[in-house]
Amino acid sequence: MMPEQFSQHTRILAIETSCDETAAAVVEDGRRILSNVIASQTDLHAQYGGVFPEVASRKHVEVIHAVVAQALQEAHLSIEDLDCIAVTRGPGLVGSLLVGVNTAKGIALGRQKPLLGINHIEGHLYSLWLSDEDDQIEFPVLALVVSGGHTELYLMRDHLEYEHLGGTLDDAAGEAFDKVGRVLGLPFPGGPAIDKASENGDGTFFRFPRAVLEDSYNFSFSGLKTAVLRTIAGYDPDRLPVSDLAASFQAAVVDVLVVKTARAVAEYDVSAVHVSGGVSSNRHLRKVMAQRLPVPVRFPPPILCTDNAAMIAAAAHRHFTSGRRDSLDMDVLPSLQL
Ligand code: KG4
Ligand code: ZN
Repeated sequence: MMPEQFSQHTRILAIETSCDETAAAVVEDGRRILSNVIASQTDLHAQYGGVFPEVASRKHVEVIHAVVAQALQEAHLSIEDLDCIAVTRGPGLVGSLLVGVNTAKGIALGRQKPLLGINHIEGHLYSLWLSDEDDQIEFPVLALVVSGGHTELYLMRDHLEYEHLGGTLDDAAGEAFDKVGRVLGLPFPGGPAIDKASENGDGTFFRFPRAVLEDSYNFSFSGLKTAVLRTIAGYDPDRLPVSDLAASFQAAVVDVLVVKTARAVAEYDVSAVHVSGGVSSNRHLRKVMAQRLPVPVRFPPPILCTDNAAMIAAAAHRHFTSGRRDSLDMDVLPSLQL
């Protein structure tokens, strides 16, 4: 048997702290998850009805070392066994990003390991490669990222090649879910709560506007959000038809996402559609995408839809094997684009 130090495998420790999850993971060869630790701060932010940046970065500082230690322990590896330390450098909250980036730099410097700064959106795109079926993926692929911070459509002609087709002009899809959830009196975050409340609702009860923005792959959800707010204002708060409002709002968001994606599928000859990001765990979105698109639609398992470090390691693996290395003066980029 080959001694461990001559192993042909590439093992990457990744750290993700761009928003309100403190996460660390070890991934082998860009696809096998050896550990995936996620310390969520959701309960902490629920009292504010949204992520409180200062509170988020302080909490990251408190737990980051324990989260990294647990990721190594669950992977049965020590830092010496790793080939690279990867970290999300943006986009995200500056104070939160700094905690992850400085932790990764400390490990890389202290243990003489290569360092890679990864784009968070690229991480979501690579959440689809964390599977044993990753070598069956054929390019070009159409990739939709729908999260709390982003609604972006990309054409991927190859690994690490992204053509940005369009994105949100105002609210991201997840942001709209969270805002509407709040006015419906649902718990934070609104996305999963609306998904659940919609089970008992009629998605055709209210006909909310769909901003289709002809001739573009851009998205806009602020008009929809305003229409929901206006409808709610017309009701006695004690008699709000919460389930029907949730289901009708969700139907409108899903409709727009599906119509735009279908149009891009028709324009570009893609082999499949990949949907990732927190909103991609929405059950109605999954169902309608699968029904209405003429090519296979792939989604990550729900645990890899919301923020995690395994997806950062998966993206880092592609950069690492292509030879990229970052220097220790790499900085956070809160508005980084892909
Ligand atoms: O990817 P993510 O964890 O963080 C960002 O990068 O933004 O996405 C979080 C977003 C939140 O807005 C949350 O409400 C939404 O994903 N979300 C959902 C569902 N689960 C999470 N939205 C709709 N339906 C869901 N089941
Ligand atoms: Zn995210």
